[in-house]
Amino acid sequence: MTAKILDGKAIASAWRNGIAREVLARVAEHKSRPGLAVIIVGDHPASQIYVKNKQMACEQVGFYSQSYVLSEEVTEASLLELISNLNSEDQIHGILVQLPLPNHIDVNIVLDAILPEKDVDGFHPYNLGRLLQKRPLMESCTPKGIMALLKHTEVELKGLDAVVIGASNIVGRPMAAELLLVGCTVTVCHSATKHLSDKIKQADIVIAALGQPEFIKGNWIKPNAIVIDVGINRLSEDKLVGDVEFLEAKKHAGWITPVPGGVGPMTIAALLDNTLKAATHGRELSV
Ligand code: GUN
Repeated sequence: MTAKILDGKAIASAWRNGIAREVLARVAEHKSRPGLAVIIVGDHPASQIYVKNKQMACEQVGFYSQSYVLSEEVTEASLLELISNLNSEDQIHGILVQLPLPNHIDVNIVLDAILPEKDVDGFHPYNLGRLLQKRPLMESCTPKGIMALLKHTEVELKGLDAVVIGASNIVGRPMAAELLLVGCTVTVCHSATKHLSDKIKQADIVIAALGQPEFIKGNWIKPNAIVIDVGINRLSEDKLVGDVEFLEAKKHAGWITPVPGGVGPMTIAALLDNTLKAATHGRELSV
């Protein structure tokens, strides 16, 4: 058996095309062009690539975008002042602060400062709380993109056993809440989890988000399982691998995402979708 490939690149491209058509229709009706502000602090190389990709995607769908590249030494107070200005700027519907931030800045204070209706990353405690209460508003982008990939398989998700590896605020925790929302039985694994391979062996859905190259062995995958690999690990200049041993896992899984070209493009499409939602429903979303 060999798994079907969940082609995130193609699925995200179709999603972005739909968003671009909605933007054209909005502008034709003299409604505002969705606007996204992206803030990056310091010169973290991976963050710079993510931010460049996000800007290109904004241009492609016809969004208005602003980017702020702040020095590694910027004070927390200046960053908060910028966020406060963007919160009250009408042209800006979404604000994204690229993570990680330098250690002298408290990430929680920064994320709390973004208005929940402009929190297109879905990282504000209000938006995470809404998701836990089964009434999501702005959903975190990677889990939202993964749910779109799972929908694409047309597999009935209700009642399936899902194992999420990684318990971060950005991916693992909101991912678990999304899977619970569609009726999966969810196990969240982390660095203190015992017998990880046994848990993965019984999973119908595996979401790997631990950030360790090829840590999840292919022969742990249950026959016909859906395998979603969030990891992007650079082994050399031209070699990226995920958190799953792809070639071996592909022999067992029913569906699998490639790296690159799986989850990455879906995260960006979900961000654009959230920004369009913020532009369309901003006032209704305000708390
Ligand atoms: N760093 C890694 N992934 C993300 C993301 O989805 N959003 C932001 N803001 N920072 C990140």
